[in-house]
Amino acid sequence: MTIQFTTNDLESQWMPFTANKDFKANPRLLVKADGMYYESHEGGRILDGSAGLFCVAAGHGRKEIRDAIYAALEQLDYAPPFQMGHPLSFEAARKVARILPDHMNHVFFTNSGSESVDTALKIAMAYHYARNDKQRTRFVGRQRAYHGMNFGGLSVGGMVKNREVFGPGLPGVLHMRHTWSKDDRFVDGEPETGADKAEDLQGFVDTFGAETIACCIVEPVAGSTGCLPPPKGYLKRLREICDANGILLVFDEVITGFGRLGTPFADEKFGVKADIVTLAKALSNGTVAMGGVAVSDEVYETIISSAGPTAVEFFHGYTYSGSVPAAAACCAAMDIYEREGLFENAARLSGAFGEMVHSMKEFDVVTDIRSIGLLAGIDLAADGKPGKRGYDLLKALYANGLLIKLTGDCALLSPPLICEEKHIDEIGTILRNTLKAI
Ligand SMILES: Cc1ncc(COP(=O)(O)O)c(C=O)c1O
Repeated sequence: MTIQFTTNDLESQWMPFTANKDFKANPRLLVKADGMYYESHEGGRILDGSAGLFCVAAGHGRKEIRDAIYAALEQLDYAPPFQMGHPLSFEAARKVARILPDHMNHVFFTNSGSESVDTALKIAMAYHYARNDKQRTRFVGRQRAYHGMNFGGLSVGGMVKNREVFGPGLPGVLHMRHTWSKDDRFVDGEPETGADKAEDLQGFVDTFGAETIACCIVEPVAGSTGCLPPPKGYLKRLREICDANGILLVFDEVITGFGRLGTPFADEKFGVKADIVTLAKALSNGTVAMGGVAVSDEVYETIISSAGPTAVEFFHGYTYSGSVPAAAACCAAMDIYEREGLFENAARLSGAFGEMVHSMKEFDVVTDIRSIGLLAGIDLAADGKPGKRGYDLLKALYANGLLIKLTGDCALLSPPLICEEKHIDEIGTILRNTLKAI
């Protein structure tokens, strides 16, 4: 299928996180997808090296998900989620809870990762409030973190460009140092050194008082900034400091959740349990906007039991929390993940994936490579202005038939979990040929 677009056809939509002028002059439109491949509006076959935007874990065009959404909408289009409900959202929560860490059996639905993060921060505050620990209003985030683009997530996030225009954000937020070190370049998996950076949290406790801190939020593996696996022992140390000081630990698993690391969630990969876990993306296999916040039984019981029998316990929610099509998509996606053993497939392929990615070290332009599970970041030397080389690479790869995500000059790879060795080889071939040419 070849479709011609003119700039005028594209003008009305203001695109997110996009160089609008350049895109509209030379659009990259995806018109079809199946399995591991997209088709472009010019008829090109594009291998999906990024699971869309980290979300299409079960691959494209899943009939089970499409059918489930259709069947659900045929019966019921919409039900208000406040003081009302519909069976599918409960079924979705139950299926997600089966995959979640054992101590987590409750999920609050949202519509995106950004909403999940803001909801998680509010849950942390509500937990302390319910325990009459009302001074705990500070949040601890981290440099280079990405927690979405709403004001809560932006405030605890630490990607400079994303924050630049938007002022100081929430008051009382503290940032730990990021964990990247130039001494640990080209490491496959968790770096040996850097666990001591968790002591930044202890420093905030010492300086501001534990009784002022509601939660510490981290991506177990920093994703959007370029795939930064945690140094060995780092997350354990964060957990210890949180436990010793009554601080909740929040894992933002919008990217890492649902098998990206080769385990269902990060707790199994790193042996550290969070109190709150944010979800989105693969929650619906990318088909319908959906997010969620999973909480420990202790967090749930504390908030729920703090109000009277007919009182609303948590003053928060969204019109589309657990909407009919989202819940249907979620149920079908969870069934596929379990039935097809996709998390296990990710674990099985992570060795071959890591090897392919790390073989790019041969190029002088590559300054660092990091990988874990089916997630990797390849840093490129800047070409004059930061981000220029990354953008040029994105366009060249697309022209050569590979879609990946670029953050500045870092190329991020995260193929769908259905991928096979041959797809990893194909990603490697296109990447190598393209890097040769830039
Ligand atoms: C760790 C993390 N948190 C939150 C978000 C925001 O998700 P959304 O774009 O669905 O709002 C993202 C998006 O990439 C993410 O990677």
